[in-house]
Amino acid sequence: MKNNSDDRKYNLVETILLTLKRGDNVFIPQKHEGSAFAPSNIALCKYWGKRDAELNLPMTNSLSVSLNHLGATTTITPDDKDFIFLNNTEIKSDTAFAKRLLEFINLFRKPNQFFHFNITSNLPIAAGFASSAAGFASLILAIDDLFQWQLTRESLSILARLGSGSAARSLWQGFVEWEAGIRRDGLDSFGVPLKEKWPNLYLGILKINENEKTISSRLAMQRTVDSSLLYQLWPKKCTHDLPLIKTAIEKRNFPLLGGTAESNAMTMHATMLSSWPPICYFLPETVAAMHKIWQLRKEGLEVYFTQDAGPNLKLLFESQNKQDILLNFPDLHCIELFPR
Ligand code: PMV
Repeated sequence: MKNNSDDRKYNLVETILLTLKRGDNVFIPQKHEGSAFAPSNIALCKYWGKRDAELNLPMTNSLSVSLNHLGATTTITPDDKDFIFLNNTEIKSDTAFAKRLLEFINLFRKPNQFFHFNITSNLPIAAGFASSAAGFASLILAIDDLFQWQLTRESLSILARLGSGSAARSLWQGFVEWEAGIRRDGLDSFGVPLKEKWPNLYLGILKINENEKTISSRLAMQRTVDSSLLYQLWPKKCTHDLPLIKTAIEKRNFPLLGGTAESNAMTMHATMLSSWPPICYFLPETVAAMHKIWQLRKEGLEVYFTQDAGPNLKLLFESQNKQDILLNFPDLHCIELFPR
């Protein structure tokens, strides 16, 4: 399991697994297969930029809402060599996807231990739609199931974070805050679920383009931190927005929730636009949809949007406005975030 180039990650994993007091037995499968589902999540106050790239430690706290039944299911079965299946299609080991998955998995197994991975995603948009968060969260849950570690959600959140930062929030349904933490070893940086629910809250996925991202969020974050002067304001923006979003959730104040989330996303994209070379996830259709939303709001329809590292928009609205919103965006994929 040891690999010197990645010592800090391995040390973190080791620290967590040592609490189980199972020695090398931690990597002995306790069942025929491990299997788990994890929801995707969309941040209302975004994570953008790392204080530690190796351990995926963020500069700021972030807050998301999970997408209920939409996410990824992973099944892991011991095998003679590694096989990776994504939505029932075999993925070659030399692809970026497989390399990223295996780099993560290598943290949690002995040398010469191999698995058959079966990952299925039921997200309406295939490539690059908040899929890595659900993917890595379901992977660590499936590993925990296979080895029967029964780790706490907090520990699993720390481990999922090593695959993709936003995965730290995909261990729970509902609203989840990811605390940035201050420790160098990353042991205090994990998701914390909020107790509040919002029964009539909806998120609508507005598909603009399904192609792969022009630049990965990992590289885009790094470039923003390294080259955008505006990025200096980003922690200040999050410190301002996060309490507002929490108050909005407590008081069920929808305009405050939607407005703060939209403003937070726009500020994140402003830091990217001011990077060099510029990072622009907006397509002409993205901007057209933004103008349409702003016009609808002017006309009295309460709808807001957020946008991640891609051209698609996620609309926020409440159930009483669903019909009106569907009239304006007939192809919107609507998700009830807190079904009764
Ligand atoms: O977890 P990553 O490395 O895919 O980064 C996610 C970044 C955003 O989706 C843009 C923001 C967020 O908080 O999810």
